[in-house]
Amino acid sequence: MRIDDTFHDGELFVQRRAGEAEMAQRNGGVIADTVPKGALRFIGQQPLVVFGSLDPEGNVWASVLVGEPGFLAAPDERAVELNVTQRRSSEDDPFWANIETNASVGMLVIELATRKRLRINGQIRRLDDTRFEVGVEQTYPNCPKYIQRRHLSRLSPIAPPRLAPTRCGTSLGKDEKALIASADTLFVASANPEHGVDASHRGGRPGFVRVLSDRRIRIPDYVGNSLFNTLGNFTVYPRAGLVFVDFDNGLVLQLTGRAEVLWDQEDPDDETAGTRRFWDLEVERWLETPLPLQLRWELLDYSPYNPNPRRVTPVAKTTLQLTVARVRQETDRIKSFRLTAIDGSELPAFTAGAHLPVSIQLADGKRVPRHYSILSSPSNRNHYEIAVLLEPDGGGGSRFMHEQVRENDIIEAETPRNDFPLLDDANHSLLIAGGIGITPILSMLRSLASKRASLEVHYAARSASSMAYRDAVQALSDGQARFYLSEGPTAARMNLDQLLSMPRSGTHVYVCGPRRMIEAARELAAKHGWSPSQIHFESFGARSTGKDREITVRLARSERTISVAASQTILDALLEADVSVPHDCKRGECRLCVTEVIDGQPEHRDVCLNTEEREGSMCLCVSRTQGANLVLGL
Ligand SMILES: Cc1cc2nc3c(=O)[nH]c(=O)nc-3n(C[C@H](O)[C@H](O)[C@H](O)COP(=O)(O)OP(=O)(O)OC[C@H]3O[C@@H](n4cnc5c(N)ncnc54)[C@H](O)[C@@H]3O)c2cc1C
Ligand code: FES
Repeated sequence: MRIDDTFHDGELFVQRRAGEAEMAQRNGGVIADTVPKGALRFIGQQPLVVFGSLDPEGNVWASVLVGEPGFLAAPDERAVELNVTQRRSSEDDPFWANIETNASVGMLVIELATRKRLRINGQIRRLDDTRFEVGVEQTYPNCPKYIQRRHLSRLSPIAPPRLAPTRCGTSLGKDEKALIASADTLFVASANPEHGVDASHRGGRPGFVRVLSDRRIRIPDYVGNSLFNTLGNFTVYPRAGLVFVDFDNGLVLQLTGRAEVLWDQEDPDDETAGTRRFWDLEVERWLETPLPLQLRWELLDYSPYNPNPRRVTPVAKTTLQLTVARVRQETDRIKSFRLTAIDGSELPAFTAGAHLPVSIQLADGKRVPRHYSILSSPSNRNHYEIAVLLEPDGGGGSRFMHEQVRENDIIEAETPRNDFPLLDDANHSLLIAGGIGITPILSMLRSLASKRASLEVHYAARSASSMAYRDAVQALSDGQARFYLSEGPTAARMNLDQLLSMPRSGTHVYVCGPRRMIEAARELAAKHGWSPSQIHFESFGARSTGKDREITVRLARSERTISVAASQTILDALLEADVSVPHDCKRGECRLCVTEVIDGQPEHRDVCLNTEEREGSMCLCVSRTQGANLVLGL
């Protein structure tokens, strides 16, 4: 059930002042009074949750609680349970005393590895000696912008004598300032005592929080979901609790104090990416508690949304001019291209799983990027090797590569980017490839083989003649490769159910191949109890099928009608028509572009939505419709 009259006066004031009142009304539609069914299991899988609470003096505190997965559970849509026997964070956290005197709490259930998060506000009560229950009053899925992807691993308890002592103070010392100044993530709690407590996330490039003095820090306020719960709360109740986590040293730093919203500020370094809005925390108390767990919080990548303020070194995105040093026909439909720097110098470094955005020219002369995974070894900086499958019905990218690109030509590309990184700390890597999906898997295989890491490879293709790089896979895997063919006299299909039947701690699974293979692998991994953070996948995104037709899309809320050409995605058509739709991966993976479908029959081509979610929504970056019309909740 949705909630009406969602916003309090403070939120309405900030929404109006920021000029985002209309957007807030629109986005406020996602707020509900129960946990979405699809999120019940998600909650039970998380080892980390953020709470906001109020102490008897009215100070706001943000707390990060960690525990063995299962310490948090949502038995139904109206309640979330917290089991303290499974909790592994400090008892000195003021949260435990606060909830004895004030039951209002804000929760943020967040999975950094997938950027999924869900906010839950409600009242907490003790069920018995070991369990608390949060009665759900408000929930909503938050937008995953500005979340740095992190992989959380190694949950092993530390013996109490080795724990650092709890420290506290009223002004920040050298160590606290250093932690804050290098942070890329913080959690903030705010409150409107009449409406309850909120817990939220803030992220940015390291250094996005500025330490102004021993008692004051400044946080830029980026463009968000327009709801302004946190800033709205500050307007009526100017107090905040912040928490920073130093996982390298196993410390949690909590700050509480007065919050002040700063509008229309001078912003010469463009720290706010255009909003010119900041908020300050005047620190009144801080508390540093040890984390009684050995955790590794490995950074996978920064959010692509993070603004790059001028005072922080931007990540270079350079155009490369590359010579096509060698073209080779690998199979009937796959050609490989060896690319070198035109002056023969070393190429920019890349990591296993990375891809190269190559500029290709369509038949109408338009230049567009197409992405190709680098299959060569990351340790070889003399060349990048890519392989392109010819898509005869495609929009022209692969045809350009196959028909126009010759040896000694110069092509343009951007520096490699990696959305499918290989983790260093796995005990074992299970690599699964289907068809042309072998390309990123090959660079992973080269990387693992060079370190003699434990691995196995499972590679499926339609037929022996369409299976590229079989010999290379065989040689690199030292007998740990299995090959599967779906056609021909020796046909034997890959049995994903069997491969994933036993979750193995310390094992990471990497899947690249057709959409159905990725969907099946994810479903089976979930069914057999693998943690989502052990399953990594990359799909190669939307394809025109040759049978796609023009679609008419009606936007119910803004009352506009947009036509989507057969050779276009719905997302691209909306963006071209200046309709603002959050998006990132454009491959149906990140969920950012998921939109409510009011009428029409979507044809789902994503790899992120489950069956229930598909009933009322779709990914605009890849999916289309079975008919010619769609009505969207935009
Ligand atoms: C990270 C990544 C790595 C990749 N690695 C490889 C690789 O190693 N080898 C390889 O062969 N390919 C790879 N691809 C796929 C490759 O980038 C191209 O998509 C592919 O070559 C087909 O391009 P095309 O122009 O021939 O066909 P198209 O199907 O026309 O091109 C696909 C693009 O067209 C758009 N599009 C056009 N019409 C539609 C429609 N009706 N519905 C949906 N989308 C439409 C999509 O935005 C999509 O980006 C990779 C893709 C990604 C994202
Ligand atoms: S943009 Fe990532 S799922 Fe659509």
